[in-house]
Amino acid sequence: MLSSPYKEKTAQKPTLLHDTFFNDLRRKEYSRLCNQQHTYLDFTGGNLYAQSQIDEHQSLLHKHVLGNPHSGNPSSLLATQLVQKARDQVLDFFNAREDYHCVFTQNASGALKIVGECYPHSKNSHLLMIADNHNSVHGMREYCSNQGGTYSYAPLNYEDLTISDIDLEKHLQQHKDKKHKLFTYPAQSNVSGVKHDLEWINNAQENGWDVCLDAAAFVPSSPLDLKKHQPEFVAVSFYKIFGYPTGIGCLLIKKCAFHKLEKRWFAGGTVQYASVSNPFYFLADDYERFENGTISYLDIPAVTIGLNYINKIGMQRINERITSMTKYLYQSLRDIHYDNGSIFIHLFGPSCRETTGGTIIMNFFDTNGELISVYDIEEKANHMNISLRSGCFCNPGIDELNNHITNDGIENEFYTSNDSNRKELVYKLKNMRGATRVSVGIATVQKDLDQYIKFVKSVRDKFYLKQNNYKNILKSKS
Ligand SMILES: Cc1ncc(COP(=O)(O)O)c(C=O)c1O
Repeated sequence: MLSSPYKEKTAQKPTLLHDTFFNDLRRKEYSRLCNQQHTYLDFTGGNLYAQSQIDEHQSLLHKHVLGNPHSGNPSSLLATQLVQKARDQVLDFFNAREDYHCVFTQNASGALKIVGECYPHSKNSHLLMIADNHNSVHGMREYCSNQGGTYSYAPLNYEDLTISDIDLEKHLQQHKDKKHKLFTYPAQSNVSGVKHDLEWINNAQENGWDVCLDAAAFVPSSPLDLKKHQPEFVAVSFYKIFGYPTGIGCLLIKKCAFHKLEKRWFAGGTVQYASVSNPFYFLADDYERFENGTISYLDIPAVTIGLNYINKIGMQRINERITSMTKYLYQSLRDIHYDNGSIFIHLFGPSCRETTGGTIIMNFFDTNGELISVYDIEEKANHMNISLRSGCFCNPGIDELNNHITNDGIENEFYTSNDSNRKELVYKLKNMRGATRVSVGIATVQKDLDQYIKFVKSVRDKFYLKQNNYKNILKSKS
């Protein structure tokens, strides 16, 4: 490691809340991080499981004989009981037991797909999204267009990657003539960490919209109370909340909106009765309608274990902890710059980190003001065993906005190529894209944040010294 040519500012940094609690938790449940000297900063990508979660799940599997739930034998009945317990626990976690059905899906994308596929899109419908959606939401527009519906986007403010209530209101006031209107947005951006207002749900509903809330990035660090805010549909991935198991998410469907979703086929487990001698079938009248085939009955009990684990820590405590860590990290990064005053790091999103989640995105610049490739940053981080994310994070809207990508260049590529990818576009448009994302979670401790800050300073120092050595060589040659 180079010794830094800078005298660092020693500004007062925000205090990390609940430090003793989370340091103990780290020691007890996530010792593998320290054992491997691993700095894990990709909690928005996937949370980490606690040791006790997998121990408890393993002993449950050791203890019981569990069979396919679609039957009445003892092994099947026990599996049904454990799955029901998980379903109830999920509903309780979101305070939704009375008002919602819980459909287990493979992940949040699977939940969004059900809404995309089954919403009654037609010439008389409209889908409104925001530019900050994940690709799993953007993809829903294909179901909409294929059935003759129209769609539109509410754009983001360049400065802080938010949408003002007034701007959104203008979009919600449109399409008054349409019979079915669906508004889909993320409760929290998976890229900028911005929490989009849950009050939008009510506003949209008052204007005749159904609302699909993508809660995948929000619920790992914020409480979602579905008594208070009642979107028609909510999508969640459980590994993002407690790391294990992967492959299970849920779609929460408000009971009174259940019949709005039109399932156009059937599969095992989704029917009350289907016949071969005639073309009719009776669909199941609750969550089973959307759970095609055999559900993941061995893993679903681990959802109960995961939720119990989070409940024991307390979502409020997690929220406070993550907010304090984000503020600490944001403030520390903001203070890192080149000595000559030129910009080294650009942090995207709002400068007030009080109400954003645990995600920060940034770009780095060399001393000439050229963007340093995000893939170079990732590679350098890999050498220090830091897991972070680079790229566009399945959220092209934010990437296009942050990198000033015009529609012309992209449109040309779509019309002239049969096949392309992001890297090719970067090359052709000669516009470096993407960003570096770090995200914190329940297993993060101050040491991880400081290690990342140290890494960022080492990148700056390398670029600074490289440039200075170059200047010195030029000077000595002249
Ligand atoms: C906001 C948001 N929506 C949807 C998804 C898709 O989740 P999954 O990949 O678990 O289906 C993600 C994943 O990162 C996300 O952050």
